[in-house]
Amino acid sequence: MRITIGKIKEMKQKGEKISMLTAYDYATAKLIDEAGIPLILVGDSLGMVMLGYESTIPVTMDVMIHHTAAVVRGAKNALIVGDMPFMSYHLSIEQALANAGRFIQETGCQTVKLEGGQEMAPTIAKIVECGIPVMGHIGLTPQSINQLGGYKAVGKTPDTAVKLIKDAVALEQAGAYAIVLETVPAPLSKKISEKISIPTIGIGAGAGCDGQVQVISDLLGIYTEFVPKHAKQYAQIGKTIKTAAAEYIAEVTAGTFPTDKQSIAMDESILKDL
Ligand code: KIV
Repeated sequence: MRITIGKIKEMKQKGEKISMLTAYDYATAKLIDEAGIPLILVGDSLGMVMLGYESTIPVTMDVMIHHTAAVVRGAKNALIVGDMPFMSYHLSIEQALANAGRFIQETGCQTVKLEGGQEMAPTIAKIVECGIPVMGHIGLTPQSINQLGGYKAVGKTPDTAVKLIKDAVALEQAGAYAIVLETVPAPLSKKISEKISIPTIGIGAGAGCDGQVQVISDLLGIYTEFVPKHAKQYAQIGKTIKTAAAEYIAEVTAGTFPTDKQSIAMDESILKDL
């Protein structure tokens, strides 16, 4: 049985911590689903960690649909969140509805996520009204990187802290079922988490959040160009891939791969008559 938004909200009420990971492909989604992850985000971070862009801004709806459908095919139990990319929900509420609808209809994911605070509340309310659950995302919002001027913490001054609290309350009132808090001071995240009744899912936002999200490539040590302060490497898959590739190259060069074990045999008498 797939996890529902009701279950995610209930986890907060019961004081159970919620874990979320990103995934961008079938095989990884299947593995983390089998490991028991309740929430999978097909994040637009794929633009950086999978496609090699400098930011998430070049990611399009078609790219997100392609990857989200693969994740849905791989994960049978987790609740899947499709991340609405830059400019796919800003032009009008109609545009946001159409693109949220594409995620649900074309990929089979169950919910969408979008960045922004009070200004996005009417859009979120309309999407939710149409039956599509929405996860909010405030604090550091990477799609606004050019406006923010860098990947910096948000909420350290009285004004920005008050704005963040108002944003969280507005998203809850608009009907969001959970909110990502990105790169927010830990004590402020804790305060926000206590103030609203829907779960907060933190990334670089401290242990006081109701849940945590991490980018899978950071967790596995695959994307090493930039390792954020909030990331913890639970494995070093990047090193394992390099070692395996180097060993393969050496064996092909030396002629020790393939062996008979990896080759297909043939009746010698047929071969002789050819
Ligand atoms: O795109 C993404 O992976 C995200 C997470 C960092 C929350 O939005």
